[in-house]
Amino acid sequence: MTAQIIDGKAIAQSIRKTLKSKVSDRINKGLRAPGLAVILVGKDPASEVYVGSKRRACEEVGFISRSFDLPSTTTELELFRLIDKCNQDPTIDGILVQLPLPEHINEEKIIERIQPDKDVDGFHPYNVGRLAQRIPVLRPCTPKGIMTLIESTGIDTYGLDATIVGASNIVGRPMTLELLLAGCTTTTCHRFTKNLEEKVRQADLLIVAVGKAGFIPGEWVKPGAIVIDVGINRLANGRLIGDVEYDIATKHASWITPVPGGVGPMTIASLLENTLYAAEKYHD
Ligand code: GUN
Repeated sequence: MTAQIIDGKAIAQSIRKTLKSKVSDRINKGLRAPGLAVILVGKDPASEVYVGSKRRACEEVGFISRSFDLPSTTTELELFRLIDKCNQDPTIDGILVQLPLPEHINEEKIIERIQPDKDVDGFHPYNVGRLAQRIPVLRPCTPKGIMTLIESTGIDTYGLDATIVGASNIVGRPMTLELLLAGCTTTTCHRFTKNLEEKVRQADLLIVAVGKAGFIPGEWVKPGAIVIDVGINRLANGRLIGDVEYDIATKHASWITPVPGGVGPMTIASLLENTLYAAEKYHD
């Protein structure tokens, strides 16, 4: 068996096209273009790349992108004040604070300072709680994008055994909640998990988000499984590879996401979807 490729780049592009036309419709009706504030603290090179992509994608679909680049010496209080200002600004529908933040800033406190109706990352305890209670509104971007990718395969998720490797607040935990909502039986693995191989081998649907190149041997993939690789790891030679040993995994899986061009573009597409949703649901 050779897996079919789930083309995240193409799916994300088609979402952006739809969003662009929805923004035109809004303007024609005399409504505002949605506004997204993107806040970057410090000079983490990976974060600078991600934030640059988010800002460009925003402008491409006709949103107003507001950029705030702050020095790494910014205090928690200064960041609170900026978030308060964005919370009160009626032209801003979404606020994104790029993570990780410098050590001296408490990420939980910053996330909780963002008004839940502007939390387009879906990280605020209000939005995570809604998802946990099966009444989602603003949903975390990467898991939401992955659900769109899974839907694109046409496979019915009810009853599937899903294994999620990685339990972060950004991907693993909300991914587990999304898959529960989609009727899967979920196993979430983390650094204390015993017998990881057994949990991976049983998965009809495997999601890996650990950030370690080739961490999951391709041999472990169950025949016919769907494999979603969230990792983006840069090798010394500059090549980008995922967390799953791709060449071997493709021989076992029925569907697989490539790296790059799989999950990455979907995170941004979901962020744009969330920003339009926040404008329409909460701010029009
Ligand atoms: N850092 C890594 N991924 C993300 C994300 O989806 N949102 C934010 N705000 N920071 C991140």
